[in-house]
Amino acid sequence: MTADQLRIKFLEYFKLKGHTILPSASLIPEHDPTVLFTTAGMHPLVPFLLGEKHPGGKRLANIQKCIRTGDIDEVGDNWHLTFFEMLGNWSLGDYFKKEAIEMSWEFLTDRKWLGLNPQKIAVSVFVGDQDAPFDEEAYNHWRKIGIPEARIAKLGKEDNWWGPAGETGPCGPDTEIFYWSGNEPVPDKFDPKDKRWTEIWNNVFMQYNKTAEGKYVPLKQKNIDTGMGLERTVAALQGKASVYGTELFQPIIKKIIEIAGVPTSTADEFYSVNQKAIRIIADHLKAATFILGDPIGVTPSNLRQGYVLRRLIRRAIRYAKLIGIDTKKDFAAPIASAVIEIYKEVYPELAKNERRIFSELNLEEKRFEKTLEVGLKEFNKMLKDGMISGKEAFILFSTYGFPLEMTRELVIEKGLEINEKEFVEEFKKHQELSRTASAGQFKGGLSDASEETKKLHTATHLLHAALREVLGPHVKQRGSNITPERLRFDFSHPQKLSESEIKRISELVNQKIKEGLSVKCEEMSVEEAKKAGAIGLFEQKYGEKVKVYSIGDFSKEICGGPHVKNTKELGQFKIQKEEASSAGVRRIKAVLT
Ligand code: SER
Repeated sequence: MTADQLRIKFLEYFKLKGHTILPSASLIPEHDPTVLFTTAGMHPLVPFLLGEKHPGGKRLANIQKCIRTGDIDEVGDNWHLTFFEMLGNWSLGDYFKKEAIEMSWEFLTDRKWLGLNPQKIAVSVFVGDQDAPFDEEAYNHWRKIGIPEARIAKLGKEDNWWGPAGETGPCGPDTEIFYWSGNEPVPDKFDPKDKRWTEIWNNVFMQYNKTAEGKYVPLKQKNIDTGMGLERTVAALQGKASVYGTELFQPIIKKIIEIAGVPTSTADEFYSVNQKAIRIIADHLKAATFILGDPIGVTPSNLRQGYVLRRLIRRAIRYAKLIGIDTKKDFAAPIASAVIEIYKEVYPELAKNERRIFSELNLEEKRFEKTLEVGLKEFNKMLKDGMISGKEAFILFSTYGFPLEMTRELVIEKGLEINEKEFVEEFKKHQELSRTASAGQFKGGLSDASEETKKLHTATHLLHAALREVLGPHVKQRGSNITPERLRFDFSHPQKLSESEIKRISELVNQKIKEGLSVKCEEMSVEEAKKAGAIGLFEQKYGEKVKVYSIGDFSKEICGGPHVKNTKELGQFKIQKEEASSAGVRRIKAVLT
């Protein structure tokens, strides 16, 4: 079975079981500053998992493109990837453990669907601890289905618990489904540490809310959140020992070997010697292609998503150099082209944004070559005293962007002694830095970050109302994005704002902040909200009740929250930039100081 067939079967099965099929959301989350990328199918669904009604009903399914950088050091083994597709089904307060487990089992093993060998399947369930009991219910369902005791592992929170990403929120035990990928006969007993057991599907039972006091309170709306790894499942279906053996990677790998100038006759040997590097190049450039090809455009930079993108491209180039590829010639774009070829039907945005993908890759290659050139000069200067200290290596990295690994190699190449301990310390520092950046976590903790975003969110409502008052009621929200540092608001308006308009808008917002208006939240139906004159994105809201936030009688907007209690918490509002976003749409960036 191919990846294309698996995608179709999955959606067909869950449609048959009453699920509404949703499109894949963007890789860049719009309203969640705590993560840089969409890391799971549940991510764009968080408001609905928290109780907001979804227009598609209570049963949903989709295929979501995801980026995870947390496992980047494991990429290159058989199973870990930076970019992957997640097949997911959700129950929003509808079915629970029994049905979720039964559906997973039927879909995986029934001949009509995937027809995987039930003898090669093992599962894990939550063992229980001081916060929540052993998940006996899940355990019993698996036993009833026919999974032998020896094939059910009972594991703790580190393995069988999901969420919350922050300190508080919905969470619960999960059950993971593993498939035997080894060529050897399947062992009777499931050993979760044996890497040949590959996790292919996770069913999360969202049944608790973790409170600020650290208590686990049962949720009113119990949800199911599942995620099946497309690449891993395809490998299982095709009897491959690795995701890289499937059609989702083979053409990319072939392209890399071709670019390396290796003749077909020795291609296999070249691959087996350089397997890890080739896999990393394929994985990283696939991820970079998807990030660059996303409708929400991100380009390489030193900030947030742009930084991760830059690291992925540069790391791919580094590994390419290591295996003897001349990266000064066209390197990344032809590989991106192989990626687009594989995915262009499923993700049409890639072909649509092909030109941007190629040109950004080319530009970043050039910038990196320049960085290396300058770095090499600095390196030679530093070497004048006959050594490179750990500190100097770090300066090369932090000031000149020169990769630490490269400094290390050069030092060894020159036949010089290196201070291993010092280097290792610098490496560690560097890794921690990049982890923090990739996980998108902010120093000072998530709670501080969310306090800042809350303020900026309320300021966005004030700005929206002020724009309508100063420019006119034709102003409509076209997009909004908040980070802990600033707000960004896109709105319909035909021309550039004048200096005096910008001044009037800022003054109005600051006046409303000074007035100390209280922020109130009411629940009402969409009709009532419209009647009350609330503004906001109505087309995205469905169901009976919506939340309407009012700020004094200045602003009334339909919105999921959260907001501050009183505008006097906001401080000083300042517009930093006003520019065009697209035809007929303006963009304002503003901060609170
Ligand atoms: N959120 C869970 C996961 O990512 C299931 O979708 O594994």
